Amino acid sequence: MKKQQKIIIIASLLVAVLLVGFTTYQMRTSQGPIVRTSGAALIGGNFELLNHDGKTITNKDFHGKYMLIYFGYTFCPDVCPTELQVMTGALELLGDKAKNIQPVFVSVDPERDTPAVMKDYVSNFYPGMIGLTGSAEQISKVAKLYRVYYSKAAEKDAPADEYAMDHSSIVYLMGPDGSFVKHFSYGTDSEKLAKGITTAIKG
Ligand code: NI
Repeated sequence: MKKQQKIIIIASLLVAVLLVGFTTYQMRTSQGPIVRTSGAALIGGNFELLNHDGKTITNKDFHGKYMLIYFGYTFCPDVCPTELQVMTGALELLGDKAKNIQPVFVSVDPERDTPAVMKDYVSNFYPGMIGLTGSAEQISKVAKLYRVYYSKAAEKDAPADEYAMDHSSIVYLMGPDGSFVKHFSYGTDSEKLAKGITTAIKG
């Protein structure tokens, strides 16, 4: 082994040790008794949007049932259809238990996702799935409440209506009172999602 290679390996090991040490230190300090936050308080809240029939709807209209909510856009080439298919698969696996769970798809692209476009799109997925859209301000507000990031990504010189939306891809399970129950990250398959929901709603 060349001397230079040795130096590089040793240097890499040192960085790794430092990183582990730093992470441990961070964990210790963050476990202190001073700051205690509950995820329940951080996700969700009051919103007013348009359903896929063009009617104004608020978060309270969803109370009484669990809500499985996901944010994306209908022009999404793969991430959104994949995730909505995963949600659909999970609800199918849940069978009768799914009666108590309302699947909801919220657009982060209100410019193109009109109620009519949303209605047509959600009909491809689990029966009864509700599509929500609204004004740019309404969408911005609800996305903030759910800690959803989104941003328009247009190519140079592309026509005005041809663009992609970068967006975070997280499924949230909200309780019948509208409070946050659990989140599922992108890549969770239908079986895991169904199991996670079952465990969560058992309490
Ligand atoms: Ni998407």
